[in-house]
Amino acid sequence: MPAEDISALLDLAGVFKKKLATPAPEFTPTLRRRRIALVFFENSTRTRFSFDVACRYLGAGTLSFTASGSSVSKGETLSDTIRNLEAMQVDAFVLRHASSGAAGFIAGITEKSVINAGDGSHEHPTQALLDIFTLREHFGATDGLKVVILGDVQHSRVARSNIFGLQTLGAKVGLCSPATLLPNDAGHLGVRLFTDLDRAIAWADAAIVLRLQLERATGGFIPSLEEYSSHFGLNDERLEKIRKHLLVLHPGPINREIEISNNVADRIQPPGYSRSMLLEQVTNGVAVRMAVLQTILADKTA
Ligand code: CP
Repeated sequence: MPAEDISALLDLAGVFKKKLATPAPEFTPTLRRRRIALVFFENSTRTRFSFDVACRYLGAGTLSFTASGSSVSKGETLSDTIRNLEAMQVDAFVLRHASSGAAGFIAGITEKSVINAGDGSHEHPTQALLDIFTLREHFGATDGLKVVILGDVQHSRVARSNIFGLQTLGAKVGLCSPATLLPNDAGHLGVRLFTDLDRAIAWADAAIVLRLQLERATGGFIPSLEEYSSHFGLNDERLEKIRKHLLVLHPGPINREIEISNNVADRIQPPGYSRSMLLEQVTNGVAVRMAVLQTILADKTA
C-alpha cells in the first residue's frame, strides 16, 4: 500500500476518533446497504469486537461466524464456508485464520472484498495500521521515528505488517529478539537487528512488545520462561538503568511479567520512564477499522 493511501486512511481514522470521543456519537450510515461477515476461525477479543463496533457505527449489518459452533466441526472446508456465506448476499469478509495466506486464498475465490484480520504468522494489517496511527498521533509524525519490535518476531503476524507499514511511512525499524525467534529473512527486511534489549531500547523512541506465543514456547525456541523474561522482558529496572523514556505498545493479549511487567503495561502517565499505549491502541482500533471499512465499502450514495 503506498504511503499516501496509508496516510489518507489514518487521517480518516483521526476524524472518526475525534467524533467517537464525543457523547453518543452518530455517523453517516455509509455502509447501511452492506452486509459484512466477521469470520473468525481463531479466537479474538480486540479485532473481532472492534470490527463489529465499527460496522455498527457505519450502519452495516453483520454476520458473526466463529469456527466453534459452526459446521467446520462436521468437516466443512474454509472455501465451502465462505461460498455458503457468500450465498447469503455478503458484501465483504473480515477473516481471521490460523493458516498463513488464508486471506489471500479466499480473495482468489470470491469477488467480494476480503479484509485480513490476521492469517497465521503472516500478516495482521489492521493491527499495524492502528499501531502506526497510535505512534503518529503521539509523536506527530513517523518519518525518522525509531521503533523497536521486541520479542517473538518469528511467530508474529503483527511484526511483519508493522515492518512494512512503518518503513513505508519513513520510520526506522529495529527487531530485538532471541536468535531462535527471529525469522530466517530478518537480514533482508531492511531492519536493524538487536539481541541486547538495553541497546535496543537505548536506540528506540518506541517499542512494540510482542506476545511470547506460549503455545509454541515449548518447541525449544527458548530455554525457559524465566530466562526469556530476564533477557527480553521489558520492565522498570531496565528503563531506569538506562534512564530511557519509551512509548510502549503491545497488540495484546499480554503475558504479564513475561514479555512485559505489570508496571510497564499499566503505566499510562508519568512518573516513570515508560508510557503504556495498550488501551489507547484498542480505542484507536475502532476508528482505524471504521476508516478501513469506509474506504473499501462505503456507498457513495448514502
Ligand atoms: N491484537 C489482536 O489481534 O488481538 P485479538 O487476538 O484479541 O484480536
